[in-house]
Amino acid sequence: MTHTPARPFPTEFLFGAATAAFQIEGAAHEDGRRDSIWDAFCRVPGAVINGDDGDVACDHYHRYRDDVALMKRMGVQTYRFSTSWARVRPDGGAVNAAGLDFYRRLVDELLDAGILPWLTLYHWDLPQALQEQGGWTVRSTADRFTEYALDMHDALGDRVNVWTTLNEPWCASFLSHTAGVHAPGHTSVTEGLLAAHHLLLGHGQTVRELRARDAALNLGLTLNLTVADPVDPADPADRDAARRIDGQFNRWFLDPVFLGRYPADVVDDIRAVDADAVARLEDAIRPGDLPVIATPIDTLGVNYYHGEFVGGHAPAEAVTGGDAPTARATASPFPSHDGIFWHDRDLPRTPMNWEVQPEGLTRLLVRVQQEYAGAAGTALYVTENGAAYDDEPVVEDGGVRIHDDERTEYVRGHLGAVLDAVDAGADVRGYFYWSLLDNFEWAWGYDKRFGIVHVDYDTQERTVKDSGLEYARIIGARELDD
Ligand code: NOJ
Repeated sequence: MTHTPARPFPTEFLFGAATAAFQIEGAAHEDGRRDSIWDAFCRVPGAVINGDDGDVACDHYHRYRDDVALMKRMGVQTYRFSTSWARVRPDGGAVNAAGLDFYRRLVDELLDAGILPWLTLYHWDLPQALQEQGGWTVRSTADRFTEYALDMHDALGDRVNVWTTLNEPWCASFLSHTAGVHAPGHTSVTEGLLAAHHLLLGHGQTVRELRARDAALNLGLTLNLTVADPVDPADPADRDAARRIDGQFNRWFLDPVFLGRYPADVVDDIRAVDADAVARLEDAIRPGDLPVIATPIDTLGVNYYHGEFVGGHAPAEAVTGGDAPTARATASPFPSHDGIFWHDRDLPRTPMNWEVQPEGLTRLLVRVQQEYAGAAGTALYVTENGAAYDDEPVVEDGGVRIHDDERTEYVRGHLGAVLDAVDAGADVRGYFYWSLLDNFEWAWGYDKRFGIVHVDYDTQERTVKDSGLEYARIIGARELDD
């Protein structure tokens, strides 16, 4: 029998777990918090599976001490969480001291536990009051975002060093304003483009302001990136489909942030389907915006779940992606999707209908290093990676157990892929599993469980799944063994 030697992680490599405010906190109407766009969206009939909402979620607002203690027991080194704008500035303007205090308590608890706080300022929960003024489709929202970021820095700047401006602006723009799948649930090409630009502007100007206050902060952005493989690399239509997918998910955001320009081929793609939308975008881009968006960042967070296997010809049998769980949402999240078809290949899929493709993560990280982050001196972190499976808790030896072998394999496979990327020269400095807890999976509600910790929503009891035990073991050993 051959034995593969264990593969050590780099000495400074950080192991983390991630969550987001709306998905776990609950306490939606407490201590002055007001509606975010997700509270409002959850009330739209048919928007979220089972009509689920964030009112209670994992009740983390009241249970954060226990959740931090659980992470400490698991050996988690860093915790990526987001702050709720609607808790801190409930109507988008004046600060709500009680809301801010929650994050002070949470950060203190993390620091006491020896866990590094990794703070994300925007994980999709815009105050509804700002939505009523146009939300991300109007420029002033970028300014309101920077003001809110500075409030957070006033309160936590002495204790939090790592600041991420946005989580997955692709979702907050195109999935939300063009595909209608996420809040505010609109279906407009123009709105998607305007929202993306204003999100990026808010990101860039916030990095500038925070940097001016404290040059030692670690500042960054998290993007959902993918690898797009053409069905037949020799077929021009298939190659073009892969180019367009790469353009909308990856380059639409990476190019402005690292190169200071929008990708011309993608602009042309969109103009071909909606010239008016491109004209509106061009009107919205003011001189100086792109240099602001391209303000250097220390850290790029990469969220990776699966790749895309696409072609320019319809497959014999229709293949659907996992992004549009409810009938009211359209299947097409981007203006230039027409003529792109998803195909099946011989890869396992999760219940989200997402392919399991760890080697895609290696290719993605190496590519981002070579084409963007390397020249900029920006460090890479995998800020999300994980899988939903249909967990079945069992009672054994008087306790609940979750034997989620597929998730364990998923985590091990992707950690191996990260090590492969490091070996190939990518400067990857950490990995966060998504998610610490089962939680509110947006339009899927509580139906899909991503946690390495199981949540019983009737009792709020937490149980570390087998995958969580394995993750804790790997963190302790700092190596990936057979
Ligand atoms: C991306 C998002 O950032 C997170 O909120 C979501 O739950 C996971 N991916 C899983 O879909």
